[in-house]
Amino acid sequence: MLVEPGQKAKIKVKVNGVLHEVEVEPRKLLVDFLREDLNLTGSKVGCDTSTCGACTVLVDGKSVKSCTMLAVQADGKEIVTIEGLSSDSKLSPIQQAFKDNFALQCGFCTAGMIVQTHYILSERKEITEEEARDLIHGNICRCTGYQNIINAIMDASRRMRQ
Ligand code: FES
Ligand code: FES
Repeated sequence: MLVEPGQKAKIKVKVNGVLHEVEVEPRKLLVDFLREDLNLTGSKVGCDTSTCGACTVLVDGKSVKSCTMLAVQADGKEIVTIEGLSSDSKLSPIQQAFKDNFALQCGFCTAGMIVQTHYILSERKEITEEEARDLIHGNICRCTGYQNIINAIMDASRRMRQ
């Protein structure tokens, strides 16, 4: 996509099932586009350097840290954010498992943790605790000590198999 200096780029992107045809600054990060242009503020910016995972979203079904991608690179793609994981104001099984297992404190990492868990459990039906720890290594939590998050992932995995 070639854009003249000072011009915006036209993109078409589906976010949580809704098609958006919009103009964006070529340098705008996907996370900033989601938060500022679409008002989807569930994804958080914890570092802006691909370290914390608080900005994790699904891009064409794959887990992506949305601070590592430009909004223009999402042209033609389908994005799911934390807001797209629940329906009719009802928590998804993963969200419910995080709630029931007290897997959050300040909540800053939680959207990223839940989206990453959604990705992990969409790829595999069963998971061991060791695998769960490995698969969330890109998501950092500074409050919980991780055990309750692991408990929530294992619980969500059980709920989704029932
Ligand atoms: S804000 Fe994207 S990884 Fe931290
Ligand atoms: S709950 Fe605070 S950073 Fe994870």
